Amino acid sequence: MSTLAPTPVRGLTASDPLLAWRQEFPILEHTTYMISHSLGPMPRRAEAALAEFTRTWATRGIRAWEEGWWEMPVTCGDLIGRIIGAPPGRVVMHQNVSICQALVTSCFDWSGPRNKLVTDGLNFPSNDYIYHGLERQGAEIVSVASQDGLTVPLEDILDAIDEDTHLVSISHVAFRSSALQDLAAIAERAHAAGAYLVADLYQSAGIVPLDVTALGVDFATGGSVKWLLGGPGAGYLYVRPDLDASLEPAATGWAAHARPFDFEAGPIEYAPDIHRFLNGTPNVPAMYSARSGYEIVAEIGVPAIREKSVRQTQRLIELADAAGLTVRSPRDPEHRGGTVILGVPDEDGRAIVAELGRRQILVDFRPGAGVRIAPHFYTSDDEIAHTIHEFASIVNP
Ligand SMILES: Cc1ncc(COP(=O)(O)O)c(C=O)c1O
Repeated sequence: MSTLAPTPVRGLTASDPLLAWRQEFPILEHTTYMISHSLGPMPRRAEAALAEFTRTWATRGIRAWEEGWWEMPVTCGDLIGRIIGAPPGRVVMHQNVSICQALVTSCFDWSGPRNKLVTDGLNFPSNDYIYHGLERQGAEIVSVASQDGLTVPLEDILDAIDEDTHLVSISHVAFRSSALQDLAAIAERAHAAGAYLVADLYQSAGIVPLDVTALGVDFATGGSVKWLLGGPGAGYLYVRPDLDASLEPAATGWAAHARPFDFEAGPIEYAPDIHRFLNGTPNVPAMYSARSGYEIVAEIGVPAIREKSVRQTQRLIELADAAGLTVRSPRDPEHRGGTVILGVPDEDGRAIVAELGRRQILVDFRPGAGVRIAPHFYTSDDEIAHTIHEFASIVNP
């Protein structure tokens, strides 16, 4: 039984130039890091960025707000915009997806006849919890079930959208199975019915090329801890440019006011632009930390990341098949994100992950799904083989 990490990849960068990025991620020196669908590794430059935050706080004090901190939710959002195809000034930063989703749903009146919220059965639970909370305002939540636990058929989602639908919510890549959904077709159907579409991009941005403008989504949410390698506390919300005038989020705060520093009492007068989707004091250190990851992903380019991801996830599946393991992700790369899920009995999942962790291979387990394994641009082919070899030696000793 081998417990060693695979041989160093120095010298292999000619055949795989993306491996040159490994030196930017200290944890890769001793760990097989297959878990960027959960928490991406820290880039070295994030440490310098956080030091810049404390230096700015120490030396500029309160002047830092007007010297960049106050606008950071939008300037930092622009860095995400480059990755997801949003024009400048259309993405704002919040702490997490849950806040962004609550903000989106608070834009609508759920007590009228158009009270349906159609969501996909593989959506992230946080989103479900928020939607069901709207029932007390009169919303009807229609969750389109997944029969196989892997996918929600596109046709079923399209059929569920009707003239009573106010909002459709879709996870672009399902966290449980890595199934990739057809957002463009759903946007078209939602708009034909007079509904809005919110897409959760958390499991796609940074690993699957996407363009919110071309896809026609109305809102998109996501965060930075996963494929974008940005660390916690830096969620984002995209809103389609022409929607500002018609949307008034009830979940709001003083940063969304047209003149926040006038501190006017009474009902809010919303800012005329993307600032109307802010709430209170922004999470400044999280944005300092997160920028490094966005810069790296943008520098490499998502198409190059995807090309490698498709090749390596295919290889992972081939090796899993050869080892007699159960693959619980779509096999067609066209319908799969960056993670491959291997089925294991629910009662064994955590022990398998813990044993892999002892062997310095980091993956995770989700009940009802399996063990999630994710290469990213820094992964070597040796690490793919090593992960499957060790996995197989644990489940079939
Ligand atoms: C698709 C998806 N949406 C949302 C979340 C969680 O979002 P947050 O913790 O930012 O609210 C996750 C993962 O944690 C996820 O995979």
